[in-house]
Amino acid sequence: MAGILDGRSALVTGAGGGIGGAVASAFARAGAAVLVTDVNADAAASVAASITAEGFTAESFAFDVRDAEGAAEAARRAAALAGGTLNILVNNAGAIAPAMFGKMDQETFRRIIDIHLVGSFVCSDAALPYLPTDGTGRIINVTSAAGLTGTIGQANYGAAKAGIIGLTKSLARELARKAITVNAIAPLAATAMTANVRENEKFAAQTLARIPLGRWAEPAEIAGTFVFFASDAASYITGQVLPVDGGTVI
Ligand SMILES: NC(=O)c1ccc[n+]([C@@H]2O[C@H](COP(=O)([O-])OP(=O)(O)OC[C@H]3O[C@@H](n4cnc5c(N)ncnc54)[C@H](O)[C@@H]3O)[C@@H](O)[C@H]2O)c1
Repeated sequence: MAGILDGRSALVTGAGGGIGGAVASAFARAGAAVLVTDVNADAAASVAASITAEGFTAESFAFDVRDAEGAAEAARRAAALAGGTLNILVNNAGAIAPAMFGKMDQETFRRIIDIHLVGSFVCSDAALPYLPTDGTGRIINVTSAAGLTGTIGQANYGAAKAGIIGLTKSLARELARKAITVNAIAPLAATAMTANVRENEKFAAQTLARIPLGRWAEPAEIAGTFVFFASDAASYITGQVLPVDGGTVI
């Protein structure tokens, strides 16, 4: 069966599980050859193995998104999956380090900015030489409601995710002349990152009360929006931020 991403290659960061893992699988099922990357080598290899076991195309590669040399090698390997062109980069890798303002040290603040914001810059920079100029080139960043509306106890994360929105809009303007689109998705899903909130009785009820659809999504339910942004159906959309969060940000 022909897929809407047939012939395309994709590099997904932080794809050893959670949203990135679901996005890598959805891309592969839509026909893309996917480089599943993560700082956790075993996790990336396991997601790639589950994709190939389904009969689709994937390889894995371990690198830290803050490492420019690792990112360059990842971009080269992802492009090699499709004849030297990297069509789709998803900057998804992320981590959290919560602390209330006044109790958050500078190292903790900088580390989260580095992983999310600088990491998205580093990987986009590494991908640029391989991104095609035929209208199929995509950078899809991952932001958060925390970057759109702020959050409590994670000033580092909120600032990083707001920075990613500025990066998305600026790269969208700069890369438009190459017909490369740059968009961001603000997801909400049941993953390892949200386990503490979901499992803590007090936070769980508060968070659910803020989700109009009244439930957490599984990562697979988020992944379809990434396929859409990666596909030709989204060829005329750039510089946009789309919440996929059950209505949390309206
Ligand atoms: N889950 C949610 O509700 C939610 C909400 C808003 C935004 N997000 C964003 O979605 C993205 C994916 O998060 P998730 O919920 O799937 O979390 P997750 O913890 O399940 O996955 C994050 C992945 O990133 C990897 N990673 C962490 N640091 C890395 C680094 N320096 N280099 C390479 N890989 C690294 C981890 O090993 C992990 O596999 C993140 O950017 C997160 O901020 C998630």
